[in-house]
Amino acid sequence: MTEWKAVIMAGGSGSRLDPLTRAINKHLLPVYDKPMIYFPLTTLMLGGLRDFIVVTAPKHVEQFRAVLGDGSHLGISIEIKEQQRPGGIAECFRICRAELEGRNTALALGDNIFYGAGLTTLVQRGLAHETGATIYGYEVTDPSAFGVVVLDRAGRPVSLEEKPKDARNGLAVPGLYFYDRHVCDIAATLRPSQRNELEITDINKAYLEKGQLNVEPIGRGIAWLDGGTPDDLFEAGQLVRVLEQRTGMRIACPEEIAVRKGFIDVDFLLRSIEDYPESGYKRYLRDVVAGIEA
Ligand code: G1P
Repeated sequence: MTEWKAVIMAGGSGSRLDPLTRAINKHLLPVYDKPMIYFPLTTLMLGGLRDFIVVTAPKHVEQFRAVLGDGSHLGISIEIKEQQRPGGIAECFRICRAELEGRNTALALGDNIFYGAGLTTLVQRGLAHETGATIYGYEVTDPSAFGVVVLDRAGRPVSLEEKPKDARNGLAVPGLYFYDRHVCDIAATLRPSQRNELEITDINKAYLEKGQLNVEPIGRGIAWLDGGTPDDLFEAGQLVRVLEQRTGMRIACPEEIAVRKGFIDVDFLLRSIEDYPESGYKRYLRDVVAGIEA
């Protein structure tokens, strides 16, 4: 069976969120009641992934350590690696080359938020393709702010472009990607784009040229948002608040997912939250345990 490593890209300068991002990394800003990075982390955990690398700027390493620890409280492993300057998403394959050697990689962008009942299946669809690459396509009003993929009538990709001016026929490509073990070799040959970054779209183009790019459409049953601007962040927070208040269940809670997936057991969870301050979050986790034990 193919071994998968998960990478979460949490670099970048977060300039569109200045001054929020002067002291705090963008991916640690709140989406209502939890740090943004909990969303991509839990999306990948739902797919069963347990071996993570988070890539971020040197000055933010300590912040991520404080929030995520080494992952052992979740029954997973989280290593943190440094990106010296904002050199683009695809640079993660150069930074993590040694760790990714011989393994497939699931990559999630730290500011991408997915929500919906079919999320586990969505991730599993990516993990099911052990060779080539799998990306997703999502219908949005204006795809030109994203990587854009154009499909033919049979649903096969015909072209890919990063932030094209005219994107009328295309689907936006969300920040969730699955690659076979050749991705680091491809990344090694990339040249920086006009904005001086190694583009993830160029990796995807290389797979398209080899005839090995699989595109999975995401239907309207799944919400996809990102936290790139103050409005995006506010809207994502509103969505999470509405859903959580209505149902009493939390979204993207890593401890809950860890225990429900069997990464940890309830006794371990209860012990590891002993040190958490008294909060709604801790009370919720106690209720989760009570529900499992009932
Ligand atoms: C990046 C990628 C883009 C992708 C988007 C998803 O854009 O370059 O292809 O569609 O993430 O959030 P950026 O965040 O650099 O604007």
